[in-house]
Amino acid sequence: MSNPVFLALDVPQIEPAKALLQKVKSHIGGVKLGLEFFCAHGGHGVHEIAHMGLPIFLDLKFHDIPNTVAAAMQAIHVYEPAIVTVHASGGRAMMEDAKAAAAEGCKVVAVTTLTSMDSSDLTATGVYGSAETQVMRLAELAHKAGLDGIVCSGKEVGKVHKEWKDGFFVVPGLRPTGSGTGDQKRVVTPRSARDNGASVLVIGRPISRADDPEAAARAIEATL
Ligand code: C5P
Repeated sequence: MSNPVFLALDVPQIEPAKALLQKVKSHIGGVKLGLEFFCAHGGHGVHEIAHMGLPIFLDLKFHDIPNTVAAAMQAIHVYEPAIVTVHASGGRAMMEDAKAAAAEGCKVVAVTTLTSMDSSDLTATGVYGSAETQVMRLAELAHKAGLDGIVCSGKEVGKVHKEWKDGFFVVPGLRPTGSGTGDQKRVVTPRSARDNGASVLVIGRPISRADDPEAAARAIEATL
């Protein structure tokens, strides 16, 4: 991918989302549509955004029995996503079947541990040990299952990249120098994540909430 920036289109209405995309589209490489967007606007919404010509990252975080996840994966072929996500905690068979059912060329990447969960949250779900140990364990499982890569933070991507040289790494939680961090706590700059091995940089509010989104996207592009 020439421009690694995927804009997180966490905008509740379709028309403002399209207007934003129109402004920034020449400075980004793709668009990330999440669960919120998909539940609100369905396949129609995805097609509306896809018609604007940028690659689509469908961040639906599938997690179910292998047969169901494989069927869901087949059902989204119509949107021709470039990237989709599944939960690594669904297990090896689920990930293998997800990858087998994905369209050719579509990157299937695993979410390891939600960043909203710390060690005590993990313990409450029966997972003992640190969040980092769990991330590394699930990254290895995703690799063995034949997935393309994982979603990880800019702080972890260097370490994961060392273990998984040809992995495809999707990194959110990025903040260009000088922009507000919002609710993101462990942030790095887009350039630093890229230098540490990120394949895709997911960026939302630093572009979408900027006074001038086009200038913000252009400035980020220039740092890469
Ligand atoms: O606005 P911001 O740049 O923080 O948006 C980041 C995007 O990446 C959001 O869509 C958010 O849900 C997603 N994300 C994240 N942190 C994770 C996983 C996903 O911020 N660990």
